[in-house]
Amino acid sequence: MGIFNLALLVLFGIGSFARDTPLNEFEIDNSLGDSLYKGKQWVVLVAGTSGWKKYRHQADICHAYQIVKSNGIPEENIITMIVDDIAHNIRNPRRGKIFNKPHKAFRGKDVYRGVQIDYRGSDVNSENFLNIITGNKTGMQNVGSGKVVEGGPHDTIFVNFVTHGSTGFLSFPDSFLFADELNNAFNNMYTNGNFAKMLLYIEASYGGSLFDGILNERTNIMAVTASGPRENSYACYYVGFPYYTFLGDDFSVTWMENSDSMYGDFSAADITVFEDYSVVREAIDDSNVMIYGDYHIGNEPLSSFIGYQENDSQSTKAISKKTVMSGMSSKDVDEYSVLDQLTNDKLTAIKKSELETELSKNNRMRSIINNIFRDIYSKVLTATPEIKEIVGEYDAPHNQQLTLKMFPCYRSIINTISDSCFSLTQNPYTLDRLNVFANLCVADNQIHELVNNLVNESCANIPKNIINVF
Ligand SMILES: *[C@@H]1O[C@H](CO)[C@@H](O)[C@H](O)[C@H]1NC(C)=O
Ligand SMILES: *[C@@H]1O[C@H](CO)[C@@H](O)[C@H](O)[C@H]1NC(C)=O
Ligand SMILES: *[C@@H]1O[C@H](CO)[C@@H](O)[C@H](O)[C@H]1NC(C)=O
Repeated sequence: MGIFNLALLVLFGIGSFARDTPLNEFEIDNSLGDSLYKGKQWVVLVAGTSGWKKYRHQADICHAYQIVKSNGIPEENIITMIVDDIAHNIRNPRRGKIFNKPHKAFRGKDVYRGVQIDYRGSDVNSENFLNIITGNKTGMQNVGSGKVVEGGPHDTIFVNFVTHGSTGFLSFPDSFLFADELNNAFNNMYTNGNFAKMLLYIEASYGGSLFDGILNERTNIMAVTASGPRENSYACYYVGFPYYTFLGDDFSVTWMENSDSMYGDFSAADITVFEDYSVVREAIDDSNVMIYGDYHIGNEPLSSFIGYQENDSQSTKAISKKTVMSGMSSKDVDEYSVLDQLTNDKLTAIKKSELETELSKNNRMRSIINNIFRDIYSKVLTATPEIKEIVGEYDAPHNQQLTLKMFPCYRSIINTISDSCFSLTQNPYTLDRLNVFANLCVADNQIHELVNNLVNESCANIPKNIINVF
């Protein structure tokens, strides 16, 4: 055998090795990109909130659906979780339509049109989400469409999750997705060969806290978050009368309008995840767009996750990129919309007094919530004063990195507060105040027994109707 043939044999051998084994880090920089992957592209799209005030979350996710659909991802590989109370909401002036960008000012299109919703209403919850991504088909029998990710070792998975978040968890309307549960699911999926590569785009306040120091750097999963571990994410495209709500979120709108502007363009196929990330990070100055996990995924073309369709149709090329409107921290948006309604001079006296009552009730409830949390924390400090060094002040908690070990403690406290005090997911105001509880569990992962007793004690006599506090 001549040396030339030997070289060919070696080349051939390597080539078939690459195709026949689950994808690993050796292949990631391969310039052949996704042509090597014979697998399927799975897309999981989740809007984790409900209610008119969070219009923007469902709008973002419907828009993401339009993108992956027009990029050629087959319907059977797209799974959507959307409560679906916006399009036909009584407050919707364009009933049956959802816009992710003002339709008059910026020619926003109806993004609700054609969206196939697999899980709606109370099916939008944490347990179902975990069953869906891990491919637990029996767990989803008789729930919604029953569709789950039936991923294999050559498949990619793209998860786009838009919601309220807090330290260490993402919100569903009535449940929490904690970082350790998510991480556990990822590890199982990796071990079971459920995917070759996974990419997460997460828009939620404190989104980074779910991955910072937690997401494994060598399991082919990368997370891009709208904000770091201690930051709110930002809403955009506020529309006053008659909407009085935000239509989008900074991070989501930026990456998606970027993607829309390149639709059908030949070069869009090769844009890498890193390139997309740099553009988006650059464009957003309110929060820090972050990446976590396995950076090898950054060299992959984004199109191996969100699809790509060559399309010469000129009509699609005119879509503008995000028209920058200043973003607003998600912690301020609800109050802003009430204050803005109050400035409307056509407001009836009755409506005006309703809104004023809402605001003053909200302020009262805010101080009740703060007093309870402050009270619990000061009692903890009475029992264990030295812990303050790690936790910090209630109003200025330290920035502690979360660890997998602290989650059983933290989950237990979060559940006790939800059971004995008030809903955390339905009171967005609380979500910016849980840092101190996370820090307590970082300092001492057995402290939940003490804290839970104090929670029950402090919440024994509080009003039972604390809801929608923003
Ligand atoms: C599948 O889902 C069901 C219902 O949620 C659950 O009881 C079961 O433990 C899940 N199975 C696995 C392997 O996670
Ligand atoms: C190309 O874009 C047009 C306009 O959006 C759309 O109607 C058409 O279906 C697209 N073609 C393909 C092959 O996707
Ligand atoms: C706190 O109260 C809840 C019910 O409101 C109860 O289920 C739980 O066991 C109590 N926890 C402690 C530590 O007393």
